[in-house]
Amino acid sequence: MRGELMNKTILVTGGCGFIGVNFVRLLLETRQDLQVINLDKLTYAGNLQSLEGVADHPRHTFIRGDICDPELIDALFTEHGIDTVVHFAAESHVDRSITDPDTFVRTNVFGTFTLLEGARKYWLDQGKGNNCRFLHVSTDEVYGSLGKTGYFTETTRYDPRSPYSASKASSDHFVRAYFHTYGLPVLITNCSNNYGPYQFPEKLIPLILNNALQGKALPVYGDGGNVRDWLYVRDHCEAIVRVLEHGQTGEAYNIGGHNEKKNIDVVELLCDMLDTKLGLPENGKPRKTLITMVKDRLGHDRRYAIDAGKIDRELGWRPKYTFEQGMKKTVDWYLENKKWSESVMDGSYQQYYTKMYEQK
Ligand code: NAD
Ligand code: DAU
Repeated sequence: MRGELMNKTILVTGGCGFIGVNFVRLLLETRQDLQVINLDKLTYAGNLQSLEGVADHPRHTFIRGDICDPELIDALFTEHGIDTVVHFAAESHVDRSITDPDTFVRTNVFGTFTLLEGARKYWLDQGKGNNCRFLHVSTDEVYGSLGKTGYFTETTRYDPRSPYSASKASSDHFVRAYFHTYGLPVLITNCSNNYGPYQFPEKLIPLILNNALQGKALPVYGDGGNVRDWLYVRDHCEAIVRVLEHGQTGEAYNIGGHNEKKNIDVVELLCDMLDTKLGLPENGKPRKTLITMVKDRLGHDRRYAIDAGKIDRELGWRPKYTFEQGMKKTVDWYLENKKWSESVMDGSYQQYYTKMYEQK
């Protein structure tokens, strides 16, 4: 069963988060015929300011709400005639899942279940299933941790090891269950670490950039030898469009950047890039001297690496950006958008909703 995106009404959940914002922007920039309904609770990670310039777009409707609210979800499907769901909304930060797992279970598991129920009732009870798609955005962390060699494929056994990855694995299982039990037209993508514009500065790359610009310590967990497979966010968003349009329902697709890097190498590279671009800081010391090895994350997965062969062979997708190109764009973006980072760090980004909607 293959679907085209033409004239679709897409419910994007979590469209004010890092990847969601990049995805909404991509759709509005490149597609003339789509309606985007953006549902986001605006948790600490949701930032309406990231949609500046497109929030008022005639084909974009923002709704502040919780994916765990079944009445709201049912009403959205019916009122907007949703035929496509791209589900990003989640609690996404591993460190927070270690200190506060409850919200991860609620949003990632119960929230996904609530959306699946909404789609089942609106699509299947009314015989609309064939033209609909539910794409669940998931992570490579469901597969656990690799040793020195090997890659995650779509058939790698699930072995989640943090509360975050356990909640995402659980949501993946619910999505598959709705395909097998009810025939809901679902797709799952499991992607590696994203980086790029609008990422909340709790995640490694924006955190290091912000700290380095402020002359603060650059925390590297453990021995810095943990490996992540980095993908530029625009590539991830384009892969999602490809899977939506051409993926086989019931199937999962791994998405990765062929970019395995040790954390310490990423942090050193960022320091070098800033030194080259801005010159050395006032104290004359290279920014690398700010690197501070700190206590390791509990249960820290050692290595992730994606085999993205299936999406390449079957759907013809592969990343367009090399790590060097993506990192250059990312560093440039954070340097050109310091106000965005400042408003996140001083908390003023959270008043944006009031400015845009409650005062109208
Ligand atoms: P993010 O934390 O930046 O954004 C999450 C968004 O979801 C926020 O806008 C937040 O307000 C919203 N949200 C949270 N709870 C909600 C709820 N109950 N109802 C409605 N909205 C809610 O996350 P991200 O990095 O953009 O990740 C998006 C998705 O992609 C997640 O599902 C994540 O698991 C997955 N993913 C992320 C990466 C990555 O590297 N960032 C890689 C692979 C997969
Ligand atoms: O692999 C996909 C996952 O990538 C997504 O599912 C998650 O939503 C996303 O947050 C990301 O998870 P990670 O835990 O890999 O990302 P994070 O940026 O938190 O950390 C990247 C690596 O850097 C990880 O090995 C931990 C390390 N780290 C992180 C921070 C915040 C540090 O060494 N120092 C830090 O301060």
